[in-house]
Amino acid sequence: MAAAAILNILLLILSAHLLVRAQLPPFVDEGGGIDPTKTPVYIVRVRGPPVQARGGDGHHSRSLHFRSLKNWYMSFLPNATLSSGEPRMVYAYREVITGFAARLTADEAEAMEDKEGFVTAYPERAHPASTTYTPTFLGLENNPSSSLWPDSFMGAGQIIGVIDSGIAPTHPSFRDDGMPPPPTKWSGKCFWGNTRTCNNKLLGAVGFRHSLYSNPYDNDGHGTHVASTAAGNFVDNANVINQAPGRASGMAPRAHLAIYKVLFIDASGKLSATDADILAGIEQAIRDKVDILQMSLGRAELELFDSFVAIGSFAAMTKGIVPCAAVANDGPGKSFLANDAPWMLTVGASTIDREITAVVVLGNGSEIAGKSANQHDSLPSSTQFPLIYPGVILNTTASLGCLAGELQKLNLKGKIVMCYRFIINDDERGLNVKNAGGAAMILLNNKYKGQTTFAFEHVLPAAHLRNTGTRVIVRYYKNTTAPTATIQFRGTRFDFNPTPSIASFSSRGPSLTNGGIIKPDVIAPGVNILAAWPRPVGPTGSIFNFLSGTSMATPHVSGVLALLKNRHPTWSPAELQSAIMTTAYTLNRQGNPITDDYVGDAATVFEQGAGHIDPAAAAQPGLVYPLNYFDHVHYLCGLYKTDYKVELIVQGTVNCAQVKGIQAEQLNYPSFGVTLGGGKTAVTVTRRVTNVGDVAGSDYTVNVVEPDGVWVEVTPKTLRFSFVGEELTYDVDFRLKGATAAGEVKDGRLSWDSGKYLVSSPIAVTFV
Ligand SMILES: *[C@@H]1O[C@H](CO)[C@@H](O)[C@H](O)[C@H]1NC(C)=O
Ligand SMILES: *[C@@H]1O[C@H](CO)[C@@H](O)[C@H](O)[C@H]1NC(C)=O
Ligand SMILES: *[C@@H]1O[C@H](CO)[C@@H](O)[C@H](O)[C@H]1NC(C)=O
Ligand SMILES: *[C@@H]1O[C@H](CO)[C@@H](O)[C@H](O)[C@H]1NC(C)=O
Repeated sequence: MAAAAILNILLLILSAHLLVRAQLPPFVDEGGGIDPTKTPVYIVRVRGPPVQARGGDGHHSRSLHFRSLKNWYMSFLPNATLSSGEPRMVYAYREVITGFAARLTADEAEAMEDKEGFVTAYPERAHPASTTYTPTFLGLENNPSSSLWPDSFMGAGQIIGVIDSGIAPTHPSFRDDGMPPPPTKWSGKCFWGNTRTCNNKLLGAVGFRHSLYSNPYDNDGHGTHVASTAAGNFVDNANVINQAPGRASGMAPRAHLAIYKVLFIDASGKLSATDADILAGIEQAIRDKVDILQMSLGRAELELFDSFVAIGSFAAMTKGIVPCAAVANDGPGKSFLANDAPWMLTVGASTIDREITAVVVLGNGSEIAGKSANQHDSLPSSTQFPLIYPGVILNTTASLGCLAGELQKLNLKGKIVMCYRFIINDDERGLNVKNAGGAAMILLNNKYKGQTTFAFEHVLPAAHLRNTGTRVIVRYYKNTTAPTATIQFRGTRFDFNPTPSIASFSSRGPSLTNGGIIKPDVIAPGVNILAAWPRPVGPTGSIFNFLSGTSMATPHVSGVLALLKNRHPTWSPAELQSAIMTTAYTLNRQGNPITDDYVGDAATVFEQGAGHIDPAAAAQPGLVYPLNYFDHVHYLCGLYKTDYKVELIVQGTVNCAQVKGIQAEQLNYPSFGVTLGGGKTAVTVTRRVTNVGDVAGSDYTVNVVEPDGVWVEVTPKTLRFSFVGEELTYDVDFRLKGATAAGEVKDGRLSWDSGKYLVSSPIAVTFV
């Protein structure tokens, strides 16, 4: 072979390796979002090239194959460059979809439809971004009865791929003290330019901003926070302005991190990612052979075949990578949820028992509990200050939210100002009150914000009250001639109850797009989570910060997945997901059902899924519910009935007429979402379970909590396993007892108990 040809192949290998063109620093820190001034980016799905490159294996043929794939993709474009000279091709995908992202006008996209092999094209959309104490709270640290941390080597050897807003690489949470070298399979890149910023903790970091190789530095903070929650190394004396002090670490302190930056701050100041960049991030993570995909982003209410987070996750799942994603922050309304595919582990947010207290003492002597990270000492706590409620005085929506223009109409000097939390962010609200001369601020929760409150780093003395507290202070204000109050900061407490409860913002089911699979799958800590922060916080310059969101809940589960994968290296993504779901708990610290911060009552299956994660129990689930590629094809054919939509997800040729489609309730999922009524008075579903317990010859007996109005009959009632790895099936009959009210949902539970292991699944029966 001629030297030139060898060189050419080598160059191809290098360029095919990363999907981005490597431009050298200095980096441009591009804004995120979709730029309306530029030619739009379309995601174009096509069939594979008519003649595939064959022969050989390894990098050589793979690179040639990728080149022919790229040429095939190029053949769909009108030409290679825009009139500006900018290349049209943005990303050529190989793993996540057969297709590419390219700059096209609507007319040009339409013209492609006539080309042989074209499937579909859509303009890309934007997707929103959705701890010292949590390892102890989750029973990982200082827990003599759990050996999950030592037994799993704290996640050593696992790579968590974080699809987020990048990372602050020099934060102490990402030092590599005590870290093993990268696993040999790791082939990713560290794209910080000339500096050697990566290490054995932070294996790689790449930014994706429409193919411009952009700086993976996290100028927001979200990605740094999320990465450190999943796999941050130990940092002593972590705190925020001296609150919540302790030793910080992620859930899997010895796991490796691979960072894929796709979230950028857009023109409106929000963190968002585009379809093309999300797909590129997942594509690269698959090529780099990560073990877990951590995704705290995604748009609600997308059909599965229309969600590139779901589609990319499917490709990852078929490679043994576990996709773990946030359910979104669109609660407490029903059915606004993201990432609801059954091949994803979908996480909602719950509270922990740590409170950074800010107590409001009313003029009549009553105390109302509130929160604030910033424990100002500028308020003499024995003095009472006049209370002022702009929303009542001015009677406008803007005054209820304490917008600047409204506050200027009032004299706030030396007064404590009451504000509802809407329209603007709390940091802006605090500044408004401070600039208008207010002495302090009391943040009020309306009924939709419920009982979930945040320890925020406010610029002035402040307290964030729950909805119950809000009702008391509003009543006091309206019924008192000269209402007064003060705020007392009483530091960090660790005994708040009820704990855990569901955050009011956590998105809830039922999903309207997945055929009835219960989502979220589990809940995990997501309120006032302390984790790494790229910039100094508050007067003491803490390098940790409190954040809340399902974004913060998800990396708790990703980290735990790394621990479980070390304990059970042969388990499939579905088996790991099953272990986490069937061992989740549904009772709070006081032994009562976990409550919902919105309504205050017991949470339903559609808020908590299987329940709150229990990492130590998940390491020993006893039985798991297996699912493979074909199960998902049966499910998708049942859901969509047309080959076309199924193929958009599974990327192969599918013939649904031959594949037996199944109802969603028949998918071998570790939960039971069933519909009855409207002429359907009974349904039988079948499940199969694999014995992964350490005892051969174990017997499991079934225990059912029936949903109201429904008989549940399980056959057989005992599962008798004679060896580890054995698979057994059982049937569950659901039968209506009588008339039902359409639209009602009734919860129940089905558990298999061996005496040693409890394998528990939620049931939701929806009456139609
Ligand atoms: C490609 O086509 C566009 C119009 O669609 C044109 O403006 C541009 O100059 C063409 N580029 C080349 C290199 O011909
Ligand atoms: C406040 O405004 C609403 C309409 O915007 C009106 O119905 C209500 O009576 C007003 N309340 C007071 C106390 O003025
Ligand atoms: C203070 O006022 C509130 C609101 O009316 C009331 O709920 C509370 O009981 C009062 N406290 C005392 C000590 O009277
Ligand atoms: C208002 O205050 C008075 C006197 O403290 C009390 O008797 C009355 O019940 C209060 N009304 C409401 C609605 O809280």
